[in-house]
Amino acid sequence: MKRIIVTGGLGQIGSELVPFLRDKYGRENVIVADIRAPENVEDVEPFITLDVRDEEKIIKVIKEYNVDTIYHLAAILSARGEQNPQLAFNVNIVGMHNILEAGRKTNIERIMVPSSIAAFGPETPKDNTPNDTVLKPRTMYGVSKVTGELLALYYWEKYGLDVRGVRYPGIISWKAPPGGGTTDYAVEIFYYALKGEKYTCFLREDATLPMMYMPDAIKAITMLAEAPSDNLVHRADFNIAAMSFSPKELVEEIRKYVDFEVEYKPDYRQKIADSWPRSIDDSAARKEWGWNPDYDMASMVKDMVKNLKKKLGL
Ligand code: NAD
Ligand code: SER
Repeated sequence: MKRIIVTGGLGQIGSELVPFLRDKYGRENVIVADIRAPENVEDVEPFITLDVRDEEKIIKVIKEYNVDTIYHLAAILSARGEQNPQLAFNVNIVGMHNILEAGRKTNIERIMVPSSIAAFGPETPKDNTPNDTVLKPRTMYGVSKVTGELLALYYWEKYGLDVRGVRYPGIISWKAPPGGGTTDYAVEIFYYALKGEKYTCFLREDATLPMMYMPDAIKAITMLAEAPSDNLVHRADFNIAAMSFSPKELVEEIRKYVDFEVEYKPDYRQKIADSWPRSIDDSAARKEWGWNPDYDMASMVKDMVKNLKKKLGL
């Protein structure tokens, strides 16, 4: 029987991954862990307060709950990480090392950990970015993601600890807000558009980035978790792609449903976006575990508008 813990489980991705896993494995078998408290603990129980910088507590929780699988989502994202690189280092790199050490010491079966398009940098080819290419990110977040990918490979080869992960593009969703990334505009903009408010975009109108709708993000990480190990050449560094668009293209698509005003005032996040790819080659994921996305920009916008309207009571 599976016993899963999801670190950072209250975040944007955890908020949707946890219900998915609970449907599949049973509520009591999926434990949510986060450094912050939930608004209403009964809604998320079983819940534990856990700081991934505390290796001893991670080990204690694994033993107490008989955990065999970890989805390690706790992280400081790119924009927030540039405002506090020391915090990003500690949570993302020390935290990842703690999870791996705890996993090794307790014979954990599988650890799933997302990497990001932030693993790439200005020297990486920007279009159809290959899976195996130059990794010289210039954000602490990106440095932490490359470190995580390499540590995952190291622990697999040295200790047989099965650590897997995908390089997520910007994730778009309507249930929980994003947590301080460079791609957050692509979620925020829907709230302004649907409320008929003017949106000030912090990226340039032509800042094309790879993106993905949440149902595909959940599909990807759970598919990879179940892929036969022998089929995998890569481990925690799979490119995955679904769509790429610029703020201007997204605005045009949303305007098919609702008219709203937008102005562009790029800030420090533009420099981060400039260092990332425009589009991604995900042929390794397709070949090694059968990845393919369900949503493109048009179907994502249609679904976002429908669900957010309902959520906002519009
Ligand atoms: P998020 O910021 O929404 O959630 C992260 C969660 O981690 C938060 O609930 C936060 O409270 C928690 N956390 C922070 N510090 C912690 C600590 N010390 N100990 C325990 N918990 C802590 O992030 P997300 O979007 O859900 O991202 C999850 C994972 O996916 C991260 O590894 C992120 O890098 C990766 N990812 C996300 C995106 C995206 O667009 N959302 C894209 C690429 C990769
Ligand atoms: N969406 C994430 C960010 O912008 C990419 O990892 O930080």
